[in-house]
Amino acid sequence: MAIQNLKPDVYSVGSRDWDRRLFDSLIPLPDGTSYNAYLIKGSEKTALIDSVDPVKSSELLDNLKKIGVKKLDYLISNHAEQDHSGAIPDVLASFPETMVVTNEKCKSFLMDHLLIPAEKFITVKDGETISLGNKTLEFVLTPWVHWPETMVTHLREDKILFTCDFFGSHLATSDLYVKEEPLVLENAKRYYAEIMMPFRTIIKKNIKKVEALEFDMIAPSHGPVFDKPKVILDAYKDWISDRVENVVILAYVSMHESTEKMAGYLTDLLIDRGIKVKPFNLIETDLGELAMSLVDAATIVLGTPTVLVGPHPAAVYAATLVNALRPKTRFATVIGSFGWAGQAVETIQKNMSNLKLEYLEPVLSKGHPKKSDYDALEKLADEIAKKHKTLDN
Ligand code: FEO
Repeated sequence: MAIQNLKPDVYSVGSRDWDRRLFDSLIPLPDGTSYNAYLIKGSEKTALIDSVDPVKSSELLDNLKKIGVKKLDYLISNHAEQDHSGAIPDVLASFPETMVVTNEKCKSFLMDHLLIPAEKFITVKDGETISLGNKTLEFVLTPWVHWPETMVTHLREDKILFTCDFFGSHLATSDLYVKEEPLVLENAKRYYAEIMMPFRTIIKKNIKKVEALEFDMIAPSHGPVFDKPKVILDAYKDWISDRVENVVILAYVSMHESTEKMAGYLTDLLIDRGIKVKPFNLIETDLGELAMSLVDAATIVLGTPTVLVGPHPAAVYAATLVNALRPKTRFATVIGSFGWAGQAVETIQKNMSNLKLEYLEPVLSKGHPKKSDYDALEKLADEIAKKHKTLDN
């Protein structure tokens, strides 16, 4: 990645991964990603904020060489996940004098995951600082802005907040700063949904904590830098709020078209009632799109045929994912079909037990849907419309 200047003696030195299309063998990356690392040259000491994914470590080391870094005093590790920490051993091999600065928990993770020896660390507590001479780094613990050890680093004099995953987006772009706001916010929302949404409550506290600091720039370790921090702070405040929208997520899978017909019929009924519907055929869908839609939808309807006695495995997978992501969805139900008997509803409910959902009457047809099933879907659509009218937004 080209070296880019944020402020005097503050450089972006990480790497863009234009072609990466999957993260954690799970998360689709339609627009690639970046692993941002930042070099800060103080009058007395030099520090690197985070590293990069290990596949890109030579790019990071080349950039440090191009800038002419002869001595790297500190490597600040805000988060132990390997897309930011994986190149630390290579940096330490090139700069044997470097000390890794992080909190106690992150230190133990880095020792476990990357086998970095204990004597290579300086540990810091919440609010502690390190001086680089004319620049001061302040460390603020912000647990669960992805993992329990996450923290942010505040560069006081230059008013920059280095947040690692927090406020990031999986987006490879040549822009250093946010230029295409809608594109960045869409990717940031997708990222929030996939990574941050399960920790909504604690994120509220962390936002309050970081807002007490003085900064005019948020520099995450994925995606572009926010030179207008209000843009992403306001977006996060909306996503973590209790507000839900008049939206139904209809995630379904079908084997012999019965469930598909019911899903299509229900979609039209909901549209007729002024409800925004987002159907996701689970065999085709991008799970990131589904996650992003869950950020503010009021209702989720899972559509599934019965395979043997349970729901289709694709529906179980979707329910498990929803359960892990813990969206603020208020209402849920199941529609679908069965051949002879089944426990689709019970199994789906069990798989979404983390969520505080009000379940609406399910609609299950025996075989091909008949008039009584379509009538039941009409009733369900009415019920959803009624519930959505009560939303206290
Ligand atoms: Fe970008 Fe949680 O690592």
